[in-house]
Amino acid sequence: MLRLDGAVVAQTRQIQLGKDIEAFKAKHGKAPGLAVVLVGADPASQVYVRNKVRTCESLGMRSFRFDLPQSASEADLLAKVEDLNRDPDVHGVLVQLPLPGHIDEEKVLETIQPTKDPDGLTYENLGLLWGGRKRVAPCTPWGVMAILEHYRIPVAGRRAVVVGRSNIVGKPMAQLLLDADATVTICHSKTKDLRATTRDGDIVVVAVGKERFLGGDAFREGAVVIDVGMHRPESGPFAGRLCGDVRYEELDGHVAAATPVPKGVGPMTIQMLMENTLRLATLLEG
Ligand code: GUN
Repeated sequence: MLRLDGAVVAQTRQIQLGKDIEAFKAKHGKAPGLAVVLVGADPASQVYVRNKVRTCESLGMRSFRFDLPQSASEADLLAKVEDLNRDPDVHGVLVQLPLPGHIDEEKVLETIQPTKDPDGLTYENLGLLWGGRKRVAPCTPWGVMAILEHYRIPVAGRRAVVVGRSNIVGKPMAQLLLDADATVTICHSKTKDLRATTRDGDIVVVAVGKERFLGGDAFREGAVVIDVGMHRPESGPFAGRLCGDVRYEELDGHVAAATPVPKGVGPMTIQMLMENTLRLATLLEG
């Protein structure tokens, strides 16, 4: 079984991205800028935000980090997003999710100016993707496509099965696979005989958000398995360790290729965020 290493793919793409950022700076006399807003102190979100800021800076982009207290009001957050929408040094505005329960996530996302939305999660950007006029695609599914491309895994004409239907992963994932000429099935928690469906896939992307949910018997021999899950269980044999939606150790000798957790899809999400920010900066600066 081939281990699809997202860290290697991200490192490889960073070399080109670094050059593209230098070229942008030479042309425009300023760096692409990404603003990241974190509300509250969720430990996992803090790690993600720190990594985003660090990666930005190591690539020569400007990063702007704003930490709002857990008690911040929706109005405070919307005002911050509107400020950033107006700031000419900011080309991407990312509000880290999930948000505290008293804040309406949809309202916040829809306040981000779509031309400054590096997550690709505003309705305008999701609609452009669905309509075949992609501006930026959501980072995680876009990162999955980059992994498939890096390892030269053919997609056209193959059966792709996406497990999960969120706006952030499942739905855009299905669209990107369709754009690459796969025959796509989307399944979810109400799908009857889920395993019969996943066993039909040549490429199976699992984004269900349930730790170690699918094992070897869920995949056909020779399949390509992409695990988008990311969990750190508090108890059981994986307590305190990172694991995905798939029982990776059951795949060897059975499927053709699979992404592990960690070092699978995770590093690609950040890489594609950086690529999306540069793309938005290029579109905004002309
Ligand atoms: N929380 C977990 N993943 C993401 C992501 O890709 N974007 C944002 N904004 N928040 C997240």
